[in-house]
Amino acid sequence: MLKLVVLISGGGSNLRALLEAARDTEYPARVVAIGADREADGFEHAEAFGIPTFSVPFGGFADRESWGAEMLAQIRQWQPDLVVLSGFMRLFPASVVDALAPHMINTHPAYLPEFPGAHGVRDALRAGVEQTGASVIVVDSGVDSGPILAQERIPVLPGDSEASLHDRVKVVERRLLIQTILDIATGRIDLTEKSPA
Ligand code: GAR
Repeated sequence: MLKLVVLISGGGSNLRALLEAARDTEYPARVVAIGADREADGFEHAEAFGIPTFSVPFGGFADRESWGAEMLAQIRQWQPDLVVLSGFMRLFPASVVDALAPHMINTHPAYLPEFPGAHGVRDALRAGVEQTGASVIVVDSGVDSGPILAQERIPVLPGDSEASLHDRVKVVERRLLIQTILDIATGRIDLTEKSPA
């Protein structure tokens, strides 16, 4: 059974989908704690599923390094096999990435390496592309630049807004995330072969 710590910053709808998947006793992973860099709205899902939370607000620290050290200490308390960034909108310092790699994955609402960063859906819309996508990657010390574990194309439809496109992207992201964690738990994906550069 793979022990997961999931980190969020926002509403946590993808986290919710993972929690629902992990309710199935056949699913080989369990969320043991949910963390955030703020009092995230998505903590409501933690409460609904009876899962402990921790928050380490970025503003309470002198710099990224000391904030990251506290995040790492909180994560390690739970001794996770895998850390899942699910809408976690803050970059870790390299010290944290190095400490957890390659056992930290991230979901991204674009077909990486296209449109990395905090606005993957908006950037794809503005670029006028006919299709974008969703990706699950290993976290490295760059911005959405780690090894790709799973990804899928999603068409941009005429009249799409950022919200309508993001909603469709998230449907795919959830499926990819749940499948990728399953593949890691069952050994179909070996993260040690995917170490970030
Ligand atoms: C997801 O689309 C996730 O890929 C994205 O934030 C959303 C979180 O949605 N993350 C990034 O853009 C990271 N660069 P949720 O809070 O409803 O799960």
